[in-house]
Amino acid sequence: MDVIVEHKQLPSKDFEAAWDAIKLDASVKERLVAQAVLSLQMRQKFSFEQIPMHGLILMSGPPGTGKTTLARGLADRIAKVVGRAQYVQLDAHALGSSSLGKSQKEVSKIFSQTIPELAMSMPAIVLLDEVETLAADRQKMSLEANPIDAHRATDAALAGIDLLTRKHRNTLLIATTNYPKAVDRALLSRADWIEEIGPPGAEARKQIILEVLELLGREWPKVGHLRTHIAAFVAASEGMDGRRLRKALTSAGAISIETAKDLNKLTRENVLETLSQAAEQPDLVEAA
Ligand SMILES: Nc1ncnc2c1ncn2[C@@H]1O[C@H](COP(=O)(O)OP(=O)(O)O)[C@@H](O)[C@H]1O
Ligand SMILES: [Mg+2]
Repeated sequence: MDVIVEHKQLPSKDFEAAWDAIKLDASVKERLVAQAVLSLQMRQKFSFEQIPMHGLILMSGPPGTGKTTLARGLADRIAKVVGRAQYVQLDAHALGSSSLGKSQKEVSKIFSQTIPELAMSMPAIVLLDEVETLAADRQKMSLEANPIDAHRATDAALAGIDLLTRKHRNTLLIATTNYPKAVDRALLSRADWIEEIGPPGAEARKQIILEVLELLGREWPKVGHLRTHIAAFVAASEGMDGRRLRKALTSAGAISIETAKDLNKLTRENVLETLSQAAEQPDLVEAA
């Protein structure tokens, strides 16, 4: 299993689309970009002892709230501000689990050699998605339940992150987590900024719903006309995460085979019924 799962030149059109897809308060988005740009700049000018910035941004929140997508979009935005950059996505699971064949030595090499070499040509924005799988809180690991190797891999990864961010100031780490409580404290304390991403508020839900109706409306014009009922849809989707909301809106078309074949038959009631059903579904993702 490769530790680097994606390596890409930025800016990129795909990543730009990712940024636009996530509906979030504009000030939160701006804050994230500014934090990243500030960190890259500060770390060029000051020593770590003067201004202790690790260049680590953590996005925390429930599954389906757009963190991974936002992180990719953020990398694109940063690249646009600083000129150009590269995106490197690490597989936190492969890094943290020695059982997957990654020895402590290999983990160390990623941070001490592979990424620094990449970052010589241009800034490297590194995504550590679902970082809790890497740095599972060592305090919660019992030695019996977890082979000593798992601790070593985590230790190596944490030491690697520390080294990378202290020594190689042309890198920026973006980490995401669905379970902040499971993230090693040493990692949490290194984050320069932690952004809590929650389920979309009313305005964000409105934007998501309008976007989905507009997209479907390109194929089935009558779906587009359902936007007149936006207020009811926004109210019915309270508390839903962005992923579920997008899915539920689309699934409204499956209310009957006839509707599935021709979405022009979709009614306001169909949408409301599907939304209320989806809102009541147990959170299987959380339970897993
Ligand atoms: N705030 C949001 N606005 C728009 N779409 C969202 C939002 N949150 C989630 N989504 C949708 O859910 C999909 C999955 O999000 P993802 O980035 O994988 O979430 P997470 O990493 O938090 O689990 C996104 O690609 C997007 O379609
Ligand atoms: Mg994710």
